[in-house]
Amino acid sequence: MPRKLTTTKKKASRATKTAAKTATRKKTNRSAANRTKRSAASSAARRPKQTAQRSRSSSHAAVAPRYPDAISVLKHDHAQLLPLLKELKEITGTRRQRVLEQVQELLQTHTRVEEEIFYPAFRDAAQNDEDRKMYHEATEEHRTADMALRELSSASEDDVFSARAKVLQELVQHHAKEEEEDMFPRARELFPAAELKRLGDEIRARKQTLGQRSGPLAAVASLFSR
Ligand SMILES: [Fe+2]
Ligand SMILES: [Fe+2]
Repeated sequence: MPRKLTTTKKKASRATKTAAKTATRKKTNRSAANRTKRSAASSAARRPKQTAQRSRSSSHAAVAPRYPDAISVLKHDHAQLLPLLKELKEITGTRRQRVLEQVQELLQTHTRVEEEIFYPAFRDAAQNDEDRKMYHEATEEHRTADMALRELSSASEDDVFSARAKVLQELVQHHAKEEEEDMFPRARELFPAAELKRLGDEIRARKQTLGQRSGPLAAVASLFSR
């Protein structure tokens, strides 16, 4: 075969291979793009449901359950308190004074019913060193939060107030997290459901005598104070 013809055939063969490779690459890219599109579409399809679930659960956090036991009452307090504490470090003026008063009322009543009713019951039901350690740590954290609240109430400069509000928020957030993740689940193991319900009734009755505005009426009142 003439040399020129062989070279031409080789060139043609190389061109065919290159075209095939390019086509394969394009196909792969298209498949990847399609996979991305499909994934985005399915995420978008799932998103409204997740958002709805999130907003449902957050609205549950703000509304008192119908048949509460001690743990749901205390968790409801946390859900009311934590957003107020977060807000407190960012605001000034009369709004700040109103939110501070709400925080004082909610936090003091909450720690009081825990210390008078829930914590002693937990201490008496404790079965091991870990339970007793949980009880003592929680009590000490209340003492620290109480001091931080008093320090906050006496702060007049905006920067100092904001710094102390941040410290109080972090203390309460940490404490509430430990209660909800460790102490309350342990209490569900230590107490029968009927006892937790009875403790819940006792806590709610005590709150009423302490004069705390709680539950849906408190939520309405806080809306009007904004
Ligand atoms: Fe507590
Ligand atoms: Fe608590």
